[in-house]
This record gives sequence, C-alpha cells and structure tokens, in this order.
Amino acid sequence: MRRETKEAPAVWTSAQWLEYFRANADRPLDCPWHLGSGASPEELALIVGSLRSWQLGETSDGAHLFETARRYADSEGDPEFVEVARLFIAEEQGHGEALGRFLDLAGVPRAQRDFSDTLFRAARHCLPGLEVWTTPVLMAEVHAMVYYNAIRKATGSLVLRRICERLLRDEVAHIRFQCERLAILHRRRPHWLRALTMGGHHVLFLAVTLGIWAGHRKALRAGGYDFGHFWRSAWDRMKHAWRALSPDAYQWEDARESVEAYGEPIGSV
Ligand SMILES: [Fe+2]
Ligand SMILES: [Fe+2]
Repeated sequence: MRRETKEAPAVWTSAQWLEYFRANADRPLDCPWHLGSGASPEELALIVGSLRSWQLGETSDGAHLFETARRYADSEGDPEFVEVARLFIAEEQGHGEALGRFLDLAGVPRAQRDFSDTLFRAARHCLPGLEVWTTPVLMAEVHAMVYYNAIRKATGSLVLRRICERLLRDEVAHIRFQCERLAILHRRRPHWLRALTMGGHHVLFLAVTLGIWAGHRKALRAGGYDFGHFWRSAWDRMKHAWRALSPDAYQWEDARESVEAYGEPIGSV
C-alpha cells in the first residue's frame, strides 16, 4: 500500500512575517462605529467588567517586548525580527484601541489597572527572555480565541461583534507566530529538557485556565460557555498549539542542507 507523506512546513522567516504584518496593517478594521455601542444595559452588565480587563491586557507593554526582541534578534543574527516585533506590538495595541473605543461608545471608563494584568506584566519583567515573554502570551492568545468567540455570541452589538471577528482572525496568525518562535527556541534542547518544558507548560496552562474562568465566568457563560465547554475548548486549542510548537512539526534549513550534502541517513524511509 502506498503511504502518502506530507512534507513538514518550514517556519516563516522574519521577511515573510514582515510581509504578513504589513499587509494586515493595510486592512483597516471595518466597523460601523456610527451605530454607537448597540449593546443593551443587560448584556453590558454581564460582559463589561471582563471586557475592561481584556482591553487593558491587549494594550501590551511594548517597550519591554521591543527590548527583548532586540536582544533576541542580535543573538540570532536576525535584525529584521525587531521590525516584526514592532508590527506585532502595533497590531496588539490596535486590538486594545478598538476595544477601548467600544467601551467609550458604551460610556464605560477604560481600566487603568487590573490585578491579573499587573501579575502578568511583573512576571515578564522579572524573568527576561523571549521564551518567558512568548509562552504566557501564547496561552493568553489561545484563551482569547475562546473568549472573543463567547463575547461575539453574548452581544447584539454589531460594533463589538465586528471587533471580535477581526480579533479572532488576527489571533490565529499570532498563535502561529508564537508557536514558530517557541519551536525555534526549543529546537536545540535535549529531549528530556523539552519534556520538562512541556510539563511546565501544562502546569502554567492549568493555572491560567482556572484564573480566566474565575475572573471571566460571567461573560463566558453569557456567550454559552459553561465550565465544561470552556475547559474542553481551551485545552483542545492549547493541544493544537503544543503540536504546532514542537520542533518536530517543521523542517529546518540546516537539516535539509546536511541531507543534501551527505545523503539520506541509512535506514531512513
Ligand atoms: Fe490581541
Ligand atoms: Fe495576539
């Protein structure tokens, strides 16, 4: 029987990510702002506290990431990555601004401080390095896929639904971006250290998932997610991300070069 083999993809280069982020920045958010918030007081009562906190989270601490990205780019000899990071930060800040504009329309003040956001930022400042920055961001983005889907279902506001649809689309690419970065960072680790890292990921994701349910369950329930549905959706998405951040999911330029130079290893299929 003939076995179909699908070739693993290569991670995108910084030049490819630059092209993607530039093209995406040229697609403005098409939102009917003139309609006003369009959200009823009843639905706002269920979602607005939670939305204020996500809005703050989306306004990322750009200066810190930018510095981390610059150091990473120097160490990897990949100067274009600095510009990629700048465009990524700008996109996240655009998410924060869109949600902030919705809150303004609804007459709700934007949050200036939030306990979970402060904790999240403090952890990243205390432990510098791109992996420490990327890992919790990836987990937050995986949860964002569940969360914005819930908010989209919980609201009759055309403005907020349009914002959620755009954010959901952007976050798919962000998750891929973070997974590729982690695959690069994990790639030269021995298997035992990779397994230990994945153990740490599971513990962290468990804590983040429980924390998000505790802080946002009212809004999630309004969007049709009881605890079981939320739990399964979050873990299914994270398992998908774990597969996508495995270095084994990609083919690598230097591995291909060595095969071309020395031929296929003996016993390879
Ligand atoms: Fe975002
Ligand atoms: Fe994101």
